[in-house]
Amino acid sequence: MAKNVFFILDKKSEYYNDVPKKYRRFIINRNSFKHYYEFFNAKAFIASESFFHAIEVTNSNSLIRMRQKWEDYYYFFLQHGVSYAYALKDRIAFKKGSGFTDNSYIVVSSETEANHFIEQAKFDREDLIKSGIPKFDHAIKNEDAEIEPIDFMDKYKLNEDYKYYEQIGEKAIRAGKLAVVTMAGGQGTRLGHNGPKGTFELEVGEKKPLFTLLANTIKEAREKYDAVIPWYIMTSRENNDATVEFFAKHKYFGYEKDKNIFFFMQGQLPMIDTEGKILIGENGLIKLAANGHGGIFEALVKNKMTDKMRELGIEWVFIGGVDNCLVKMVDPILMGIAIDKKVTAAGKSVVKANAQEKVGVFCKKNGRPSVVEYSEISEEMAERRTADGELVFGESHILCNLFNISSIERMGSTPLPYHSAFKKATYIDKDGNKVVPTSPNAYKFEAFLFDAFGGLDDMAILRVKREEEFAPVKNATGVDSPETARELYKKFHNI
Ligand code: UTP
Repeated sequence: MAKNVFFILDKKSEYYNDVPKKYRRFIINRNSFKHYYEFFNAKAFIASESFFHAIEVTNSNSLIRMRQKWEDYYYFFLQHGVSYAYALKDRIAFKKGSGFTDNSYIVVSSETEANHFIEQAKFDREDLIKSGIPKFDHAIKNEDAEIEPIDFMDKYKLNEDYKYYEQIGEKAIRAGKLAVVTMAGGQGTRLGHNGPKGTFELEVGEKKPLFTLLANTIKEAREKYDAVIPWYIMTSRENNDATVEFFAKHKYFGYEKDKNIFFFMQGQLPMIDTEGKILIGENGLIKLAANGHGGIFEALVKNKMTDKMRELGIEWVFIGGVDNCLVKMVDPILMGIAIDKKVTAAGKSVVKANAQEKVGVFCKKNGRPSVVEYSEISEEMAERRTADGELVFGESHILCNLFNISSIERMGSTPLPYHSAFKKATYIDKDGNKVVPTSPNAYKFEAFLFDAFGGLDDMAILRVKREEEFAPVKNATGVDSPETARELYKKFHNI
C-alpha cells in the first residue's frame, strides 16, 4: 500500500476491528485533528459522502470553498452502491447554484438516481455519469409481458392503395419534410474492419465504401424528388474524427457540412470486467464504449439535431444503420402510410427467412408496438402459423424506421434499459500493464433502438422485399457478410 494513502474511519465503528492490524496505521480517526489536517493537505479526497458532510462543515465555510477551488485538488464522490468515479481537470460548476467550482463528476447507478440529483439538487445531467451497473438484462426482462402479433401491410399487396400512399409520401418529400439519419457509431467487432464500418469497401463492380453506397442512394432520391433531404450521421467518440475525415475527403457527397449534413456523437457507458470492476482504458481514464443504437434518440436531442431539423422544416426522420447496403432511406410509400394512418412511427420488416432465424420480430407487447428477440419467444410461438401458412411472428425488424420528429424528442428524454454484451476490451491492469485480450473479457452496456417503441402509441409496419432492401454486412464471412451483401447489391442494381 502506498505510504501516503489514508483512510478515515471512526474508531468506534463496527468495521474498525475488521481492518487487519498491519493496515491500522493508515487509518485516521474521524473528526480528529489529523482528519482535518490531511483533508487540507491531500491531493485527492475520495468519499461516499458529500464534500461538506465528509468533514462536517457547511458550504458557507469560505476556507472549505477555497480548498475546493485549488487547481490540483480532486474530490471524488462515490455515490452509494457505486464502485468508481473519475475527475477531469477542466470540470467546473460541480454543483449548480451554490457558488463553488470543482473538478469532479458524480457517478450514479441508474436513471432514477440521476433524476434524484437533477430534481433535488439541481445538478446538470452533464455533471453526472450513469454507470448502468444495476440494470443487467435480467432486471429488464419482462417475463409476464403479453406478446401478440402486430398488424402490418405488405408493400406489394397494396394494389390501388400503392399510388395513393405514394402520392402522399412524395408530396411530403418534395416539400422538404424528410431527413435521413445513419447510425454509424457501432464498433463492427464481428466484421473486424479497421476504421468506421461505413468506410468498409464492398466489391460491387468496383470497390466502394458503404458510406458511398448509401450516399449514392440518397443522391438518386434527392434528384428524383428535387429535395435537399438533410443527412445526419451518428458517430461514436471512437470513430467520429475518422468518419468526418472520410466525408471531407469525399466532399460530403455534395452536401454542405453543418448546413444540410451533420455529424453528432452518441453517448458512452463504462465497461466492466467479469467481477464487476470498471476497466481503465489505454488513456488512463475509465474505459467507455458507445451506448448502443438505442442511444440515437438521446443523442439526436442532446446534440440539438432535432432543433436543427425543426429549423429546416423537417417533420419525418428515417433512421437506419450504416451496414445495410440496400437501405432505402427515402421511401414515399412508408412516408405516405405514416402520414395517412396518423401514426408517429413506421417500421419496415422483411419476412423471416425461417421460423428459427435469429432475428427480432415486430410484435405488440402489453398492447404497445415492440420487437421481441428470438430468445424471448418460445419455439411454439416462433413456429406458429396463420391459416395461410405464414409465420404469425414473422416480421423481422431490420433497423429501418421512420419517426415523427416529436416522437424522437419524446423518446430522447425517456431512458432506455441497458442490455449487456460480452466483448473483447483492451485495458490497463492494476499494475499498469496493457492487456490485449484474445477472447471476450468485459461487459459493454447497450441500449436497443426498438426498446423505445413501447413509448409510441402506435406504429405502422410495412413489409418489404428482402432482396430489395436488406443486405447487411455484419460478419467477416458466412451469413450477412461482405460476400452475401455484395451479391444482393449487384443483383438489385443489375451489375
Ligand atoms: P450492430 O448491432 O450490428 O453492431 O449495429 P455493430 O457495432 O455494427 O457490430 P458488432 O455487433 O460490434 O459486430 C447495427 C447498426 O447500429 C449502429 C451500427 O453502426 C450499425 O449501423 N450502432 C450500433 C451504432 O450506431 N451505435 C452503437 O453503439 C451500436
